[in-house]
Amino acid sequence: MKVRKAVLPVAGLGTRMLPITKVVPKELLPVIERPTVEYVIDEAIQSGVNTLIFIISQGKGKIIDYFDIDLNLRSFLKERGKTDLLEKVKEVEEKIKYLIEVRQKVPEGLGHAILMAEEAVGKEPFAVLLGDDLVDADPPCLKQMLEVYQSLSLKVSRVSLIAVEEVSWEHISRYGIIDGEKVEENLIRIKNVVEKPAPEEAPSNLAIIGRYIFDPVIFDYLKRIPKVNGEYQLTDAIQLMVDEGHEVYAYLSKGIRFDTGNREGFFKTILHYACKDPKLEDVLKSFCQKRFQI
Ligand code: G1P
Repeated sequence: MKVRKAVLPVAGLGTRMLPITKVVPKELLPVIERPTVEYVIDEAIQSGVNTLIFIISQGKGKIIDYFDIDLNLRSFLKERGKTDLLEKVKEVEEKIKYLIEVRQKVPEGLGHAILMAEEAVGKEPFAVLLGDDLVDADPPCLKQMLEVYQSLSLKVSRVSLIAVEEVSWEHISRYGIIDGEKVEENLIRIKNVVEKPAPEEAPSNLAIIGRYIFDPVIFDYLKRIPKVNGEYQLTDAIQLMVDEGHEVYAYLSKGIRFDTGNREGFFKTILHYACKDPKLEDVLKSFCQKRFQI
């Protein structure tokens, strides 16, 4: 079955990027002149997913506004003859074909946020993309995963797939960590998944990077997991699903991943994407020459 829908949980409070996130949703923080969430949406669209389900919360409406058609702005730019800018704005406003907005009224964790999408997703497989992780890859990360998923789903019923990458041991406790049995180059059948373990308790250094393709059976498991420290963890539902015999695979994706959820990671993301623009790359080079004599 084709994956047509993607869930984007963007309800989180963004406390790691305070104080700016008091007034700007972290998903709208700019990487050059585009918000981080737009890079994730581009990945979904370039992978062939055209229905995007946003899980939002109070104060996050600006994310939806960004993708809405602003007729006043369009006519203002037209009147002033700012054709280039008008085209840029139109490109953003016409990017998403079907947009569904679901409210998560209480912040009860990622597992709870995904469960909010049950009605909108229905009974078909779907993708989840977390806005903190940007993956620069060709083909896009989700597209790579969809290919792997299609071939797995011919052999395994109700299969799910999660993207992972090796991370340094000092950063283990930022992620969901998996282990399992290697079945192919880049593919592991998951046996265990632990949310943010201490390095000495981690079963491996393979971290979940915020890209998932789920069979809708995940919703049944999300309803059964307990709340821990006020939150329902997605990883608990995945573990329960595995324990009860569902096959879940981890895919080591190709590409460079950036974690925008912390200061250093966010800074690196900006530098990386800036360097993809020759003019900005020149600016950075001459800045570094002057500032650091390199
Ligand atoms: C979430 C998931 C975690 C995953 C991470 C990827 O954590 O719970 O399993 O490894 O995203 O970014 P968060 O970063 O929301 O705390």
